[in-house]
Amino acid sequence: MAKYTDRIRKLASYVDAGESVADIGPDHGYLSIWLIREGVSPRVIMTDVAEGPLKIARGNAEKYGVTDLRLGDGLAPLAPGEVDTVVIAGMGGETIIGIMEADPEKTASFPKYILQPRTKTAELRSWLAERYEIVEDIVAEERGRPCPVIVVRT
Ligand SMILES: C[S@@+](CC[C@H](N)C(=O)[O-])C[C@H]1O[C@@H](n2cnc3c(N)ncnc32)[C@H](O)[C@@H]1O
Repeated sequence: MAKYTDRIRKLASYVDAGESVADIGPDHGYLSIWLIREGVSPRVIMTDVAEGPLKIARGNAEKYGVTDLRLGDGLAPLAPGEVDTVVIAGMGGETIIGIMEADPEKTASFPKYILQPRTKTAELRSWLAERYEIVEDIVAEERGRPCPVIVVRT
C-alpha cells in the first residue's frame, strides 16, 4: 500500500480539516487517499492530463471512496471555486507556473495552493511572490532528496 513519506505527510499537513481538495497530477493518488482515510477532507477530486496515471490512481483510490477522477490539463477539469485547496505536487516549477497562469481568473477562484516543485523552485517562488501571498515555504524529504513545499493564498 501507499508509502506515506515525509513529503506526502508534509503536503497533507497543510490541508486544514474540512477543506475540499483538488489533487492535480495525483499519479498513485497517495495524498488524496491519505486525506480521505484520515478524515481530513470531506471531498477530493483528482485530475490528470494523462489517462494512464489516472487509471493507476483510480485503482488505488476507489476502495477508499475517492471516486471523482477527471481527465484534463491543469485546472481545466475544475469549475471555478469548486474546491478550497489545490495541490500541485511532484512537477517541474515551470509546469506549475504554466498550470497557474493558464487562466488567472480561475486560478484566483481557489483560495489556497499547496505546491511542491521538483525543479526551478527559485523561479516559481519569485513568480508566486509577485502575485500571491506565500504563507509557508519549507523543505520536506523523500528518499534522501529535498522536496520544497510552498503554500500560497490567492
Ligand atoms: C511525478 S507525478 C506526481 C505525482 C504526485 N502528485 C506526487 O507528488 O507524488 C506527475 C503527474 O502530473 C501529471 N501532469 C503533468 N502535467 C500536468 C498538467 N498540466 N495537468 C495535469 N496533470 C499533469 C502527470 O501526468 C503525472 O501523472
